Amino acid sequence: MNREDTIDTTRRVLDLIAVKNLECAPSPQRLSSSMFVEAERFERDRELFARTPHVVAYGSEIKRGHYLTRTVADVPVLLVRDEDDILRAFLNACAHRGACVAHGAGEAHRFKCSYHAWCYDQTGKLIARPGAEHFDGIDEATLGLKPLPISEMKGLVTIGLQAGVEVDGHLDSVAPALAYPFENYEHLETREFPVAANWKLVVDVNFEGYHFPFLHKQSLHPFALGNASFDLFGRHCRWAFPMRSIEELRDLPEDQWPDCFDGTVVYFLFPSCVLVQGAATSQMIRIDPGSHPGEARVHFSYMLTGPANEEERALHAQGAQFANDLLRGEDFVAAAECQQGFERGRDSIVLGRNEPLLQHIHRVWDEAIGMVLKS
Ligand code: FES
Ligand SMILES: [Fe+2]
Repeated sequence: MNREDTIDTTRRVLDLIAVKNLECAPSPQRLSSSMFVEAERFERDRELFARTPHVVAYGSEIKRGHYLTRTVADVPVLLVRDEDDILRAFLNACAHRGACVAHGAGEAHRFKCSYHAWCYDQTGKLIARPGAEHFDGIDEATLGLKPLPISEMKGLVTIGLQAGVEVDGHLDSVAPALAYPFENYEHLETREFPVAANWKLVVDVNFEGYHFPFLHKQSLHPFALGNASFDLFGRHCRWAFPMRSIEELRDLPEDQWPDCFDGTVVYFLFPSCVLVQGAATSQMIRIDPGSHPGEARVHFSYMLTGPANEEERALHAQGAQFANDLLRGEDFVAAAECQQGFERGRDSIVLGRNEPLLQHIHRVWDEAIGMVLKS
């Protein structure tokens, strides 16, 4: 959010607080809950993940000469930045028999498979292997790591999970609204865990404040308000919900308002990346389908927007724990309960006018897979 955007959003939110409202959809919407449980829909979802670009990391998580591994919709991915700042993505699968050639993250100029020690350079080229004479007649040039489409725009890394996925324009529609210096962000921590709910439910919990006074009565509600604004950017979207302290700006001239929105700004980056922007922190919550319709896998990265000393990092670690507890102890518990409801016969659901982004997100998912399931 640039300053102009921040001022505009602050104005809108203050007006909403004054009239005790939020920005709404034109009408409520009824949806079939089969999208969360049916095997056919799950298969279509997985196909969508295979053919659509995904935002998977902040560029600053991978410094020059470093690498990072990710599992994205079950696909093992290796991201490597060379000394010339060229970032590449590969399928993290050895050309010999398919094992991973790297684990975790760190600094590395060579990637040696732990199974039979085939070794690759930062461009994915096979450069050494024991017993090469036993592979006579096989062209060594065909034994490199398999490259994946990759694009780094404004400090966010977008990849495709197979050749031919067009990644370059993926964020174009939302780019002006993503005015953050992501390239300066510093990594604090990463967590990965499963959730016993369909991946779409795990995305949904991040995009409405209707539940704040109830589900988050003791945690978020004492600080935050549900008088939120929302904006659509093609398939992507964002909402901004204020902290209660935003009321203090009401009597200040706008040119004295801070550059940063006094609240949380949450972006949905199609198809399942959630970016949570706070004053000093940024969270990337990536949500993938799990092994069946009732399971999701979550990747949670917590970043600081600038350098921090040890004491500050320790304080931010408490913030990361708070965010983690809020998600895993409250939101994802509710998502898992919804999943149980759908699996036991709750066959349709309704989205209120006060849940406009859920309406948008479900619409773009349905359009993307060519399957609109209204009930
Ligand atoms: S599977 Fe990698 S060296 Fe054999
Ligand atoms: Fe929540």
